[in-house]
Amino acid sequence: MGRPADGDPVLRARLDALADDGLLRRLRTLEGPVGPRATVDGRELLLLCGNDYLGLAGHREVREGAAAAALAHGGGAGSSRLISGTLTIHEQLEHELAAFEGTDAALLFGAGYLANVGVVGALGERGGVVASDALNHASIIDGVRLSGAERLVYRHGDWEHLDHELAARRGPSRPPALVITDGVFSMDGDVAPLAELVEVCRRHGARLVVDEAHGTGCLGPGGRGAVAAAGLEGEVDAIVGTLGKALGASGAYVAAHRDVRDWLVNRARTVIFSTAPAPAAAGAALAALAVLRREPERVDRLRANAALIRDELRAAGVGLAVPGIRADRVDPAVPIVPVVVGAAEATMAASEQLLADGIYLQGIRPPTVAAGTCRLRLTVSSEHDPAQLRDAAHRIGRAIATVGGPTGEVVAAT
Ligand SMILES: Cc1ncc(COP(=O)(O)O)c(C=O)c1O
Repeated sequence: MGRPADGDPVLRARLDALADDGLLRRLRTLEGPVGPRATVDGRELLLLCGNDYLGLAGHREVREGAAAAALAHGGGAGSSRLISGTLTIHEQLEHELAAFEGTDAALLFGAGYLANVGVVGALGERGGVVASDALNHASIIDGVRLSGAERLVYRHGDWEHLDHELAARRGPSRPPALVITDGVFSMDGDVAPLAELVEVCRRHGARLVVDEAHGTGCLGPGGRGAVAAAGLEGEVDAIVGTLGKALGASGAYVAAHRDVRDWLVNRARTVIFSTAPAPAAAGAALAALAVLRREPERVDRLRANAALIRDELRAAGVGLAVPGIRADRVDPAVPIVPVVVGAAEATMAASEQLLADGIYLQGIRPPTVAAGTCRLRLTVSSEHDPAQLRDAAHRIGRAIATVGGPTGEVVAAT
């Protein structure tokens, strides 16, 4: 190989191979804040693939909250939480998050990715078992790999499989197992069978952690998530919530009993060995929580928009069934609506056609989803205008038909 400054021919060849397979990923830049619409290359587009579900990222009060926190507390925390990086604004936000979730305590993390890796590492014990749903988010998968615990991947949403596998691993000297699941699955939009998982965990003396990345702000009373929607508050050992999706800020938290929080402070490596979240992120999240408390109707509008886009897509001939996903686990209030196309090239062609047609709807390919199930992962926000969503559904129907993707009938039959 030549000098590093001349490039890396090995990596270049691999990148070329990815491009040949239709799997090369590229960054696309938004000019200005994220919202129901976004500007790309000077064109204003309808944004249908972000996670800013309540339109809070660009909200004036959220931006002001970030700015005020930076002015009052500085640009960065300057250290990890345990050294000298715990600021009053972190504690204030943790207090508010615990109140929001109805838990004893909360602990901030720099991102949802870090929260999952930290929680699984701290609660998944060496010599024990960590059980993870087959379609859990990559951050959970990575956390399980790092934990050193025995990895048990149960079939997607299949609590009976989990029950059976945990029974086979019971032993008097084994520490409690850890079961972790997405509450709302990020690429499929279905909801975990939380009541059954609570029962299974109780039967086996296992701890249960629910990742509410796409539940917080979207489901349940006041947007308190899938656990609250299922009436299971107080029944799970820890909730992982993100601040960077419906709450329009950045970072994440674990809401749990103080015993769990104290354990995480002592054992979660992504807290111990990482600089504390920036004050601006905490300030933005505090402001977002205040808006959500004051305007719970945002959650109602989000639900209405989620139901509307599903209906309109179906009316436009777009199939919404996802291979391997049970229809009875899809809550129409969930703002994630996957439109499975199949092949990577066709998916990206549909995405490009929509871009030309004024809609930003990114295609999702392996390794994020299984080969052959590439999809347009459509998301709505409470701030989308229903008329624009109706119009978008027709354009999506046209794009899918143009690339020869499956229509409703074909996908529904899988
Ligand atoms: C289910 C789930 N968990 C965790 C994360 C990671 O959260 P963050 O983006 O804050 O790192 C994501 C987002 O990508 C997610 O979809």
